[in-house]
Amino acid sequence: MSDAGLNRIDGVYVGNMLSGCLQRQENLGTMMANAIGLTGVSVAKVESACASGGVALHVGVNAIASGANDLVMVAGVEKMTSQPNPNVTAGLMGAEDQMTVAGSGISFVGLNAMIAQAYMDKFSVPPEKIARFPVVCHKHALNSPHAQFKKSVTVDDVLNSPMVADPIRLYECSGIGDGAAAVILASEEKAREITDSPILVAASAVANDTQSLHQRSDMTTFDASVTSSRKAYERAKVSAEDIDVLEVHDAFSILGVMALEDLGFVEKGKGTTLLEDGQIEVGGMIPTNTFGGLKARGHPVGATGVYQIVEVAKQLRGEAGRNQVAGAETGYAQNIGGIGSTITGHILARMD
Ligand SMILES: CC(C)(COP(=O)(O)OP(=O)(O)OC[C@H]1O[C@@H](n2cnc3c(N)ncnc32)[C@H](O)[C@@H]1OP(=O)(O)O)[C@@H](O)C(=O)NCCC(=O)NCCS
Repeated sequence: MSDAGLNRIDGVYVGNMLSGCLQRQENLGTMMANAIGLTGVSVAKVESACASGGVALHVGVNAIASGANDLVMVAGVEKMTSQPNPNVTAGLMGAEDQMTVAGSGISFVGLNAMIAQAYMDKFSVPPEKIARFPVVCHKHALNSPHAQFKKSVTVDDVLNSPMVADPIRLYECSGIGDGAAAVILASEEKAREITDSPILVAASAVANDTQSLHQRSDMTTFDASVTSSRKAYERAKVSAEDIDVLEVHDAFSILGVMALEDLGFVEKGKGTTLLEDGQIEVGGMIPTNTFGGLKARGHPVGATGVYQIVEVAKQLRGEAGRNQVAGAETGYAQNIGGIGSTITGHILARMD
């Protein structure tokens, strides 16, 4: 609110997944509004697993577009470190069907391990090619003031890190951490009144898929990623070639590789070719996760989708510091909930 020079807004929408489960705290919409001294405004907590932040943004965008609200805060927040990791892992499995999947004891690392193995088999991709994705994220995080893991790692470090769920190793997993991020939304007219550097939400799209992997015919693509991105490109009247900066949901590095394909940046099965020659690094063809992504910036789950929006907005405002993408005008953010079962696609653009 201080960045936007505001002391009053009329809506607060909070993305969060685990507060009820880990802190026994619900009603976050009114709690956050109270914390900033507000009563009498529209409030809601929005829960869509790890896509809670992205879906909260979608709700906020629709509240502005419909005229229901004039000035809205969309926040994402998660506190994961107040409980031991096994409790957090069990809480995260709340995104899955309790009867058919979660009850088996498998974790999200395990589910993504099945995807990674299927992908490597189908496209004959060795682990060392996928291992380049977290190397780039860690490199970008070195210049990211709010990153969780600020250390440089090599492909060898990734390949020698402990196995978590075969074939996924520690340095291919996002971590467990706390975090929060927030943006203010307004109509175009209002935004121009309150700031000299407004950023347009050119498209806000959501698509879902089946809740679980065994209900799908192909584990190596996320249909909801393809569908949400095509909806977003159509609404913003752009294509993948127009995107200057990209945020993808690399909760596990295999998901980062698949996102490059599903969002239309490279042919299916060829995602790792973009990891060669610095093509997803700042200065490359499609700079990706320029603040470190979920792997190195962190993945406080309900906050992640809003972090991505803040980071794309910073790039478009020229405020990304040493990782600034020169001349960035259009950015895309992909946020995934569950095992690709709810996916958001947001396209942001400079308004000048
Ligand atoms: C991978 C995972 C199981 C590791 O948890 P853990 O074994 O309990 O690890 P700890 O928290 O005890 O940390 C042990 C060490 O590993 C490091 N570490 C933990 N997770 C890490 C990660 N993802 N990447 C890099 N380092 C990590 C810690 O910093 C710590 O280092 P130190 O010994 O130098 O201090 C945990 O990070 C995890 O569950 N990640 C996935 C989260 C998830 O599923 N999110 C939702 C996605 S849909």
